[in-house]
Amino acid sequence: MSDRFLVTGGGRLEGEVVVGGAKNSVLKLMAAALLAEGTTTITNCPDILDVPLMADVLRGLGCDVTIDGDTARITTPPEPKYQADFPAVRQFRASVCVLGPLVARCHRAIVALPGGDAIGSRPLDMHQAGLRLLGATSTIEHGCVVAEAQELRGADIRLAFPSVGATENILMAAVLSHGQTTLDNAAREPEIVDLCTMLNQMGAQISGAGTSTLTIRGVDRLQAVTHRVIGDRIVAATWGVAAAMTRGDVTVRGASPSHMQLVLNKLNEAGAEITHGPRWFRVVQRDRPRAVNFATLPYPGFPTDLQPMAIGLAAVADGTSMITENVFEARFRFVEEMVRLGADARTDGHHAVIRGVEQLSSAPVWSSDIRAGAGLVLAGLCADGVTEVYDVYHIDRGYPRFVEDMQQLGGDVRRVSD
Ligand code: UD1
Repeated sequence: MSDRFLVTGGGRLEGEVVVGGAKNSVLKLMAAALLAEGTTTITNCPDILDVPLMADVLRGLGCDVTIDGDTARITTPPEPKYQADFPAVRQFRASVCVLGPLVARCHRAIVALPGGDAIGSRPLDMHQAGLRLLGATSTIEHGCVVAEAQELRGADIRLAFPSVGATENILMAAVLSHGQTTLDNAAREPEIVDLCTMLNQMGAQISGAGTSTLTIRGVDRLQAVTHRVIGDRIVAATWGVAAAMTRGDVTVRGASPSHMQLVLNKLNEAGAEITHGPRWFRVVQRDRPRAVNFATLPYPGFPTDLQPMAIGLAAVADGTSMITENVFEARFRFVEEMVRLGADARTDGHHAVIRGVEQLSSAPVWSSDIRAGAGLVLAGLCADGVTEVYDVYHIDRGYPRFVEDMQQLGGDVRRVSD
């Protein structure tokens, strides 16, 4: 049985917290190590479960991986294996990002489908369509995505939606293709920019990182490098929202406020005072937060990964907020858990309408994914009594030292192992 958290509400978060490397970056950078023979060193790796899980996937592909503190060293053999089996990939979705590098390096990839999850169906059609345009065949066979290409050729590709995962897989295949690829309507997330920075350091020729059009001139080979992961903007912003919800005063270091401008603007709209420098920001909330509307969108829009925190904020705000989810259809399942905590919330399709209450009321709740879990803990901090949050292994997958950081800020959160 998974651990649970006991969250005692009523406290105010105050103090400083330092965030580590971005989960949504490190896993892709680790996969990119497959593109070059030799030892790739990745520093500022966060201490979360998905990092050793990704290490296992890479070991299954013939890499030698060591993790020492926040440094991962991945030694890729001249000929990696091309098949990532179900036991290794099933535990986390991001494992599918080995697909692009394997097709590029081995001309063949068989990657077990990780399956859907609690935030909605997560098809791979755009990943496959992009690889096909690069000259690969791609099918789903016996629960695996299979891709093959004797030679990858540059192509003009336009994504139907700026999918983060599809952009990364296509990018990691295109860097070793013949000729030039143009990837239009590409995702612009800071984690994509981080991946492009590392790939360019490795010898790739990518331009346009951070814009909707990536141009990739294929090269014959890449070399292993050392790269530092960018700070986790989602973890950082979670602490910012927590400060606003608890009428606290929290300084967050280790992530760039320029990666979360819209989120900080929203907190400001809710009444928080925000100050910041290049790699830190401070959120001070003196009064009850005001209701604010949120609509999730691909970057630079409001991140879907912070939607549960936005709902938490709306649940205790003064007034009525409308939250619109445009990225993952099933993410509103989490709202039922918020209702259990006394939130006055209703959903209809892509929209949730939340009338803020003065105080939530503690209850046992279930954490269905990483971000929903963190959102429930924040809500528990604003409830009377003790909220039990179950299945917190989800939170451990995305938030290193969550309980320790929470306690350092004065939040009364304890872990219970049953
Ligand atoms: C990544 C992040 C996740 C974040 C999401 C959106 C990682 C490990 N995860 O997930 O935390 O919430 O970006 O910012 O980086 N889609 C298709 N077909 C495809 C691919 C995607 O229909 O081939 C749809 C998805 O179902 C979803 C939307 O596109 O509705 C966005 O998905 P995508 O950007 O690909 O998210 P992930 O890369 O899976």
